[in-house]
Amino acid sequence: MAHKVNSKKSPLVISFTSGKGGVGKTNISTNLAYIFGSRGFNTLLLDADLGLGNVDVLLGITPKYNVFHLLSHQKKLHEVIYKTDYNFSILPAPSGLTDFVRLTPGQKLEFLDALDPLEDELDIFLVDTGAGINDNVLYFNMASQYRIIILTPEPTSLTDGYALIKVLHQMHKINDFFIIVNLCKDLNEAKNVFKRLYVACDKFLNGVSLSLLGYVSRDKNVTEAVKLQIPFCMKFPNTKACKNLNTVASNILTLKNNETNIDGNIKFFWKKLLFNSI
Ligand SMILES: Nc1ncnc2c1ncn2[C@@H]1O[C@H](COP(=O)(O)OP(=O)(O)OP(=O)(O)O)[C@@H](O)[C@H]1O
Ligand SMILES: [Mg+2]
Repeated sequence: MAHKVNSKKSPLVISFTSGKGGVGKTNISTNLAYIFGSRGFNTLLLDADLGLGNVDVLLGITPKYNVFHLLSHQKKLHEVIYKTDYNFSILPAPSGLTDFVRLTPGQKLEFLDALDPLEDELDIFLVDTGAGINDNVLYFNMASQYRIIILTPEPTSLTDGYALIKVLHQMHKINDFFIIVNLCKDLNEAKNVFKRLYVACDKFLNGVSLSLLGYVSRDKNVTEAVKLQIPFCMKFPNTKACKNLNTVASNILTLKNNETNIDGNIKFFWKKLLFNSI
């Protein structure tokens, strides 16, 4: 039986972002989608890496339609949503459509309308963003209810993550960020990485609040599963990285259950996206 994230039926909307590329956003968001789906939540993963999306590659699937077909009215929402064999659905990214934010407000409004039905259907809506701090990345982060920054122990990941937080905070008044440290040895290393970011934000970005959601170990089974094009939590459920990610998933749900002010549903997501772009 499907659980509900909250009694008021509005999906939890979470973006995954990093600044730096190749830190594990797509692997983490895809496997969290698998975990949430397996726990009975109706879960949709939006591949928001428009133009370079690779959620489909990670899953070894070739969806016929993508966000572009929805935007260009060639297909309806439920024709574009691809139901995977892994207990969750994806809204695939177009390849070659890199100027999403240049769509007219009218087109975005239509997109908003097209996504409306999801508000009642979904429990969890995950958004895998691209690398960098470009307009698309900023828009999807602004529009989400929660933002998860993926870091690694590499100094460049910290500086890029910090830069993204700085832009979202200073230019777009976003104060709350959640952190997952990927590719690390253990919780201690994750805490050290988190602390370095925390100290920088505390010193230079007044009002920013950071929370550590957990970490994911560097694990050879992740790369193995990528090669096999199967979510690592499905292929290797007992591997370290999967256990770590299950803890992260539980932390995300606890967060949601403790929340009293629910304002992040699908409609809200896209409305914000729309208004911020006009
Ligand atoms: N915990 C891990 N252990 C081992 N390898 C990992 C782990 N997480 C990610 N990787 C490897 O890092 C590579 C990049 O991961 P992924 O594609 O998820 O990153 P990304 O942040 O989405 O990249 P991009 O910025 O290009 O979208 C993957 O090919 C995967 O093999
Ligand atoms: Mg990616």
